[in-house]
Formats: sequence, C-alpha cells, structure tokens
Amino acid sequence: MDGRAWQQQYRGPQFLIDRGRIRDAVARISAAAAGIEIFYPLKTNPHPEVLATVVESGCGVAISHVAEAELLRDFPASVNVGVFAPCLDPELLEHDRVRNARYMTVNSMADTDRVGESAFEGEVLIRRHDARGQGKFGCADAEAMAVCLRTKELRVGGLHVHAGTNIESAQQWRQAIAAAGAGSSLTIRNYGGGLPAQSRLDELGLALSAYLEDLAPDAILEPGRYIVDDALFCLSRILAVDDDRVFLDVGSNALPPLASSRYTVQRMIRRTGEIVESSSTGPSYALFDRGCMDITYLPRLMCAIPPETGDLVVFGRCGAYTYSLWSDFGAGRPDVTAHERLFF
Ligand SMILES: Cc1ncc(COP(=O)(O)O)c(C=O)c1O
Repeated sequence: MDGRAWQQQYRGPQFLIDRGRIRDAVARISAAAAGIEIFYPLKTNPHPEVLATVVESGCGVAISHVAEAELLRDFPASVNVGVFAPCLDPELLEHDRVRNARYMTVNSMADTDRVGESAFEGEVLIRRHDARGQGKFGCADAEAMAVCLRTKELRVGGLHVHAGTNIESAQQWRQAIAAAGAGSSLTIRNYGGGLPAQSRLDELGLALSAYLEDLAPDAILEPGRYIVDDALFCLSRILAVDDDRVFLDVGSNALPPLASSRYTVQRMIRRTGEIVESSSTGPSYALFDRGCMDITYLPRLMCAIPPETGDLVVFGRCGAYTYSLWSDFGAGRPDVTAHERLFF
C-alpha cells in the first residue's frame, strides 16, 4: 500500500502488525544461539495475530495465569507451553494447558507443594533470587527446593532467572544471569527476557550475539520485547498544528507511558500521500492529544516539512506492553490489522 492508500483507508488510530518482522526477530535469535528454546511471553502482546505468528515461527508460549492459558485454547496441543508465573494458584494448576506444559517455574515452598500434588509431568524450574539475595519473585534457597521437589518425584530442570527488562548493556545482562546462577549446583535453563528491541540495539551499536554468546545450548529464553516491539506500528492523524505543538487523535490510552518504552516517530504520511521521513535535525514539534492526557513522553516530531492537519504520523516500536495495557478512556481502542510486510 502506498501513502495515498494509507490516507484513504484511515478511519481513526490504528495499530498495524508486521508479521514478517516478528518472524525475522525469532530467526535472528535462533541464528545467534542455535539450539535454544524460545518461549514468547504472552503478556508482552497477546493479540491473536501476534500469537499465531509467533507460534508459526516455532516458539513456545510462556504464560502466568488462567486467562493466558485460555488464549491458547484454539492452538494445537503440540504448542510448547512454559508456565513461568510469580505464584501457582490451584485454578492455574488444574488448567489442561498447564497440566500438559513442558516447563513450570516454582517460586516458593508453597508452589513446590502445590505442583507436587498436581498432575504436572514436565520439568520444574526453580526461580531463584539474584546473588545478592534480592529479586521480585523466587526464593533464596534453590537447593532446598530442589531436594523437596525430588522427594515428590518431580523432575528438576534447573533455575529460572529473569534479569530485568530492556537491559541496554550486553555485559550487564550477562552479569545478571551469571550472578543468579552463582554457587548453585543447578545449571540454569531459563534465562528469561530483558533484551531490547533490535532497532534499539542498532541505535546503541550493540550486537544481539553479545548478549547470547555464553548461553548453554539447551537454554530457554523468554524474549518479549525483542520479538514484538519492532513489529507494531501506530498510525495517528494530526488534528491541529499550533506553532510548534501538534495535536493528535491518539493518546496514552493506546500508547501508554511505560518506563522502559522508547516509541519512535518513524514518518509522516501527508494528506497528499507523500511520505516524509523524520529527520534528526531541523524543526521539531511537541505532541499532544486532544484530551490533555500526557503524551509528552513521546519523542518530538522532527521533519523538514512543516506538519499540517490531516497528515498521518507513523509511530514505531509500539509492540511491547501496549496492547495488553490499553484503556478506553478518552478515546476508543484503536483498530488492529495484520500485514505480511509493511514498508514503514
Ligand atoms: C519472567 C519474565 N519473562 C520474560 C519477560 C519478558 O521480558 P522482556 O519483554 O523484557 O523480554 C518478563 C517481563 O517482565 C518476565 O517477568
């Protein structure tokens, strides 16, 4: 579709899924760390088209609660499931996609007891605090939990570590996962997520391989942002321009403020259909939404040609933790459509 066609079909804020970019991201990780298993964390973006594309690309799916398990109903039983929840409640353990999961993380002795009483037959991973004994979830004494699990005749697959999110230093990521395994006889299997989007790695001059070079060949990764952030775009229309202020028809209901998000302004599609690249120099415009909701965390619109009412602004890096956090406040939820390849 050219710029004119995007203008003609525009009816209101839209999210566009680029299925090709999802497939490319999975292929890049698989090439950088051959043999690893990838589990896509469903919470990062549970849109059915995203999920279908991720599964077609050969990834398993990481889930944490019953609502996520339900989203897998329409997918074949052969899809690998990892249950990497912060706690295991009985309803979750009874769900058929959970009973038949390949991996399950336990965080506490209570989880260990519950999984021991359940019908789960896969491998159990122990979520461990980091080397300083700190962590949002998990336990300090993984060895004690391993003994307890083995007493219950469960298979202990190793440790589960989530180093953090959007870690913009390969060294910091590698240090975090190494520290979490230090001093334990259990070899780590699941290294969690935390990789930035590829476009962000490119901006920082970092190679994906620098993150993944030390991984054991049978490792598990849960890259959410890396797989999906670059694969969604948001299309929004300019409602008014006032000096250096541009008012948009999209707000924080669709582009929520996330501490670790780095939305980009990719381009403008002018009313005429002409496509204008954003530039790094020249005049810049602050973005506002029509409802006085704060979107000042969005980057400024920078382009040599002054924006006008009716032009479309294309935002990039919109895939991770947006759709799952949308609200109806101030505006309806945007439409979402999936495409094989977008030129944005
Ligand atoms: C256990 C776990 N795995 C994976 C992820 C995904 O992280 P990211 O999107 O940074 O790759 C998260 C995010 O919070 C998480 O808590």
